[in-house]
Amino acid sequence: MRIVIKETRDDTGRWTADYIIGKIKTFAPTAEKPFVLGLPTGSSPMPVYEEWIRRYKAGDISFKNVVTFNMDEYVGIPEDHSESYHAFMYSNLFNHIDIPPENINILDGNAPDLEKVCKDYEAKIKQFGGIELFLGGIGPDGHIAFNEPGSSLASRTRVKTLSYDTILANSRFFDNDMSKVPTQALTVGVGTVMDAREVVIIITGFNKARAVREVIEGGISHMWTVSMLQMHEHAIIACDDAATMELQVESVKYFKEIEEIAHSKMPTR
Ligand code: GLP
Repeated sequence: MRIVIKETRDDTGRWTADYIIGKIKTFAPTAEKPFVLGLPTGSSPMPVYEEWIRRYKAGDISFKNVVTFNMDEYVGIPEDHSESYHAFMYSNLFNHIDIPPENINILDGNAPDLEKVCKDYEAKIKQFGGIELFLGGIGPDGHIAFNEPGSSLASRTRVKTLSYDTILANSRFFDNDMSKVPTQALTVGVGTVMDAREVVIIITGFNKARAVREVIEGGISHMWTVSMLQMHEHAIIACDDAATMELQVESVKYFKEIEEIAHSKMPTR
């Protein structure tokens, strides 16, 4: 696993945005062969989305031939509810770039048959030849998408009941009222993320430091579902200094040194 450590949340976001733009450009997508991108919601990817919008407006990148699959969506809140992940994605990214609406895929948490929605989602990802790059964030309990602690590390897209910690964490978006937070969500599985050819996880802030420690220095565990990425051939964790605060000093130094050597700068010890 590659660990990229930047000073601030914004630096981390800019690095991640730039890295993925580079990947899209190298791929040179066409309508016939689009770049298939997995996307998260949450505060962590916000600096990435802001940078993509800026670079799109500057004429540096087009999303015309990008197809997106979002990670998750709440069950039972209307799509136009300000806290639905549909609304989040349109207002924070899709409305500001040139992605065609038919290229956008988000799970429908209001469908009468939720299991069918999940099955069809997996089939559609397959139909596009799989996800080229999955961008993700993590919850303070180390969950990816809504794969809460204890989720199967081989899981596929399905309905999940949210944990108390996640409902509490997400209540900040619902007037700090836990009773307003949906208790269920549709989410891609850990297995779905693992199938992507590359995975990039953005993690910022002190409140994620314990999760970062478990995921990087701990073993693979269903209690910290992102830790499954230790088994991925091309996984990157991009984090800020604050998120590394519970790592051993030696680990931080080690990963920073590798990045310096990769950029042909021999570090001084
Ligand atoms: C929710 C989402 C996750 C996201 C997490 C962290 O639980 N389902 O995909 O990673 O929140 O959000 P934030 O980045 O706001 O801390």
